[in-house]
Amino acid sequence: MSSTALSYRVSRFARVSILPLTVFPIKAALIQSSGSGNVTLDGSSIAGYLSGQGTELLMLAGGVGALNVRTNFSVVELGAVNLTSGPYILARDATGSAAVYSPLLLHFDDTQSFFKSVTPLSDGNFTVISATFDTDSSPWIGAPSRIHDLEKDKSVFPLAGVRVSVKDIYFLKGLRSSAGNRHYYTTYPPRNATGPAVQRLMQAGAHIVGTTKTVQFANGDRATADWVDYHASFVQRGDGNREPGGSSTGGGTSISSADWLDVSIGSDTGGSIRSPSGNNGVYGIRPSVGAISLDDVLPLSDVLDTGGFMARDPHLFSQFGKAWYSGSFQSFPSFPQQILLSDSFKSLSANASAVYDDFFGKLRTFLGQNATIANFSIPAQWNQTSETGVSVNKLLNETYPILIGWHQWTTVGQPFFNDFAAANGGRKPHINPGVLTRWNFAQSQGEGVFNQELINRETFENWTMKHFLTENNQSCSDSLYLYPQNAGQYVSREDYYIAPPGPPFGFSDGRVAVHARTPDMVVPIGQIPYMSSITGIEEVLPVTVSIVARRGCDFTLLDLVSALADRGIVQTVKTGRTAF
Ligand SMILES: *[C@@H]1O[C@H](CO)[C@@H](O)[C@H](O)[C@H]1NC(C)=O
Ligand SMILES: *[C@@H]1O[C@H](CO)[C@@H](O)[C@H](O)[C@H]1NC(C)=O
Ligand SMILES: *[C@@H]1O[C@H](CO)[C@@H](O)[C@H](O)[C@H]1NC(C)=O
Ligand SMILES: *[C@@H]1O[C@H](CO)[C@@H](O)[C@H](O)[C@H]1NC(C)=O
Ligand SMILES: *[C@@H]1O[C@H](CO)[C@@H](O)[C@H](O)[C@H]1NC(C)=O
Ligand SMILES: *[C@@H]1O[C@H](CO)[C@@H](O)[C@H](O)[C@H]1NC(C)=O
Ligand SMILES: *[C@@H]1O[C@H](CO)[C@@H](O)[C@H](O)[C@H]1NC(C)=O
Ligand SMILES: *[C@@H]1O[C@H](CO)[C@@H](O)[C@H](O)[C@H]1NC(C)=O
Ligand SMILES: *[C@@H]1O[C@H](CO)[C@@H](O)[C@H](O)[C@H]1NC(C)=O
Ligand SMILES: *[C@@H]1O[C@H](CO)[C@@H](O)[C@H](O)[C@H]1NC(C)=O
Ligand SMILES: *[C@@H]1O[C@H](CO)[C@@H](O)[C@H](O)[C@H]1NC(C)=O
Ligand SMILES: *[C@@H]1O[C@H](CO)[C@@H](O)[C@H](O)[C@H]1NC(C)=O
Repeated sequence: MSSTALSYRVSRFARVSILPLTVFPIKAALIQSSGSGNVTLDGSSIAGYLSGQGTELLMLAGGVGALNVRTNFSVVELGAVNLTSGPYILARDATGSAAVYSPLLLHFDDTQSFFKSVTPLSDGNFTVISATFDTDSSPWIGAPSRIHDLEKDKSVFPLAGVRVSVKDIYFLKGLRSSAGNRHYYTTYPPRNATGPAVQRLMQAGAHIVGTTKTVQFANGDRATADWVDYHASFVQRGDGNREPGGSSTGGGTSISSADWLDVSIGSDTGGSIRSPSGNNGVYGIRPSVGAISLDDVLPLSDVLDTGGFMARDPHLFSQFGKAWYSGSFQSFPSFPQQILLSDSFKSLSANASAVYDDFFGKLRTFLGQNATIANFSIPAQWNQTSETGVSVNKLLNETYPILIGWHQWTTVGQPFFNDFAAANGGRKPHINPGVLTRWNFAQSQGEGVFNQELINRETFENWTMKHFLTENNQSCSDSLYLYPQNAGQYVSREDYYIAPPGPPFGFSDGRVAVHARTPDMVVPIGQIPYMSSITGIEEVLPVTVSIVARRGCDFTLLDLVSALADRGIVQTVKTGRTAF
């Protein structure tokens, strides 16, 4: 190592400190070797430079022996460290030796989106950060400096520096998971593994910063009354009083409120990414089933569960999905040329329709002169082509509640009741009423009904592949099916309900991607006004569209949103009261 190279290293530290040197002197400098072998400072150039900057403390990494400048500085020997650029804190460790720590900047969780602020340890465990308690609500969330990742090689670390919050059903090694249930949290010990979905993010360079609130066991509670065990987090949009949606509730409210956070990962079985995406006016995707491993993630349905995510920036959204789902899908040379519009667009307010019509026009222009746009009624097409002799609304009416209720009761609920009883003198755990209704309903139907509903679901998926979202060798999916995800409707979290929600019967647009196991991407496209009875003035709420493609065509959707962003047809949404 020559002193020239070392000098470069020192000046690089000065540069990435970003602060003007004349105003902020370099009080301390770390000298480390960027190669192997010992280094000795010759003293004149580097030490002179540092003296001129007012440097008082010199920290020497292992292998650096700056002997002839020691008299001019306080010197601390750090042993083997190899630090990237960024802020550090020098302090003593538990043994009294000098050690370097990476500071986290603390952000207050003012929407009560998080359970915990977490950070990975070098031994593979996660820990709750030392600046906050191991609490289950409204902690301060620590985020590492972005400077650490400025020089990372994006081809090796495609998600370098991306800060991610994680729904509290993805198990993190060393931490307990609540899954939204207080007794579940106390019944099970810290987890012994971090699942592959989160590990892949970390390997790609992302930072896991905290765990977010979930509707209990990833089901479908409403904010008031149903969230008995914990308090539902808050949406800042409009009057701040809107239903947050779920079950990836804290994921949605964190991404729409925290500008220091980039992506929230969650799950979608029956709408758990799409509903919060719509309520918060952010980008979200429920990917095709199988997009990412859900090992060490609490299950709802083995055949319907997906690992999805939300973000504010369409380019980052697209890039994140392509990194996380890498290997599962591929890109195609062109985009689908047929836009199919749901019947649901026909029954919207004039203000919402104007936002949608504007988007349809721009989408069609973007797709090119051969693109077509047409109304498409799934129930009518089903009647014509399915050859089942039964309407789709009837065939699939009970499919969803049976598939989730039976699977979750047998794999999570029943063992939980047994484990809780064994540790608590035969007692039952508390389960939120909505979840209990679902588990009880599925038990009342039994395994035979479950097996029949598996066939009903598969019948619909097969029909979708053959008669609806057919294959195309240029664009993966021959068409795109669009429906209103959230047309700016206001549902207040103050609403009282006289009974817990019943099992989630029925078939609708939101169930298409569920049973066909296709991707469904939520895109915020505008906003409309409403008169708030809370604030007493006119507020605005985001309008979002869902875009569904054939199973396995996830990258077609992610490529599309990125291309639309390139043209300015979709934009990054803001945090806070308004998305645009
Ligand atoms: C320090 O890390 C960098 C980047 O990871 C590497 O290129 C370099 O060889 C390392 N230096 C030492 C002394 O380990
Ligand atoms: C590096 O320095 C250490 C401690 O001063 C010494 O033991 C070692 O032999 C040196 N290595 C080389 C390659 O000079
Ligand atoms: C060390 O300090 C002495 C006295 O202040 C000064 O004369 C000398 O130039 C300094 N050496 C370096 C390398 O900065
Ligand atoms: C991780 O955490 C667990 C549980 O707290 C603990 O038993 C274990 O020793 C820790 N370290 C490793 C390397 O697993
Ligand atoms: C983790 O614990 C589960 C039981 O909860 C056990 O089945 C599994 O083998 C353990 N895994 C590891 C890596 O220790
Ligand atoms: C549509 O927006 C206008 C203001 O732009 C507002 O006066 C009107 O009440 C809105 N209509 C509906 C149905 O929300
Ligand atoms: C539109 O379709 C025609 C006829 O198939 C074809 O020649 C033309 O290249 C297409 N235009 C675009 C923009 O794809
Ligand atoms: C869809 O149907 C509505 C109402 O029936 C009609 O006004 C509209 O023009 C149709 N759109 C297309 C693209 O055919
Ligand atoms: C589909 O057929 C069922 C009878 O099997 C009928 O009740 C329903 O109205 C039909 N739906 C449409 C949209 O044609
Ligand atoms: C769906 O099931 C519920 C509960 O059994 C029933 O009340 C409703 O009428 C059913 N709807 C259809 C379309 O079959
Ligand atoms: C769905 O299609 C697959 C592949 O063609 C077939 O094996 C399966 O039996 C079909 N399922 C149903 C319920 O029709
Ligand atoms: C792609 O599909 C078109 C139309 O279905 C067909 O004509 C063409 O041969 C296909 N190309 C390849 C490479 O399979």
